[in-house]
Amino acid sequence: MHKPQQASINPIHIAFFDLNRGMHQRPRRNRKSAGVRNLVREINLSASDFIYPLFVQEGDADESIDSMPGCKRWSISGLVKEAGEAYALGVPAVVIFPAVDEALKNKTADECWNDDGLIPRAIKALKAAHPGLVVVTDVALDPYNSDGHDGVVRDGEIINDETLEILTKQAICHAKAGADIVSPSDMMDGRVSAIRTGLDDAGYSEVSILSYTVKYASGYYGPFRGALDSAPKAGDKKTYQMDYANVNEAVREALLDEEEGADMIMIKPAGAYLDVIVRVKEVTTLPVAAYQVSGEYLMIKSAAAAGWLDEKAIVLESLTAIKRAGADIILSYFAKDVASWMK
Ligand code: PBG
Repeated sequence: MHKPQQASINPIHIAFFDLNRGMHQRPRRNRKSAGVRNLVREINLSASDFIYPLFVQEGDADESIDSMPGCKRWSISGLVKEAGEAYALGVPAVVIFPAVDEALKNKTADECWNDDGLIPRAIKALKAAHPGLVVVTDVALDPYNSDGHDGVVRDGEIINDETLEILTKQAICHAKAGADIVSPSDMMDGRVSAIRTGLDDAGYSEVSILSYTVKYASGYYGPFRGALDSAPKAGDKKTYQMDYANVNEAVREALLDEEEGADMIMIKPAGAYLDVIVRVKEVTTLPVAAYQVSGEYLMIKSAAAAGWLDEKAIVLESLTAIKRAGADIILSYFAKDVASWMK
């Protein structure tokens, strides 16, 4: 005789029903629609999070950069236009890097504190056109140094204390031209203190210091050095930039820079160093910046150009991760793109 099956007496069904009844926690409810996801989202990127890095060169030409597709070495007028467009989209700040004629480079990087040099002229042009734009400058010798290092080289050594004097002159030169923030990227010991003292003595106590506090000796800077032709002529940067295996040392650098008078501190690169951002953010009350550097940019650009990754998706995901880790400020070559997507 055929007996019809009764679902209600199936023990598996009973067990499942009980389990189900007890499941008051359903995290998926907070993901059920775009509206709900917007309400519960923890991290929102905003155009105002960004500092937009830009390259500048002499002359009237805006030139493409082979190693950084989509970026240009701008003429001063091109720079002013590009920065103005980003500013109009809500990006509050730019940081500028110079491509310096080989003929102007020497062992002591004298050109870096020339008041009529490319960077002081670029600062003045930017501030004249966009007074509210925050102009950040890079303080380091490498674009001006015939040895291609961030400090003075003698007998193959990078001389720390002699470099501090030059960096201080460079920072004062940028302040004199109207820079809002100077940003030492050289990783010499004691430079924040030296620059702070120099700026204050010269009457520029209102000029801020954004220190590249935790800057690793990284393979990710390759495309940038291509853009500026600023790679070291000999050796590497491992005696001044940090060993990427270390994180306690990042905390040490952060505490020192805070003590020396930095206004903001930076971790660089960003994407492969999210744990470092977390650690440093825990120990400082200063705003923390992170730099999504040229190699990070190029990896996304080239994978997207090959059709292997969705550029916009990866850009937003990578930058959100950097902010989620604790960065208050992000330096990214995608800053203007992101700001335009937010509009
Ligand atoms: C120079 C400087 C570098 C970068 C910023 N400032 C290169 C380096 O230290 O060799 C790298 C930025 C990037 O890769 O996007 N002191």
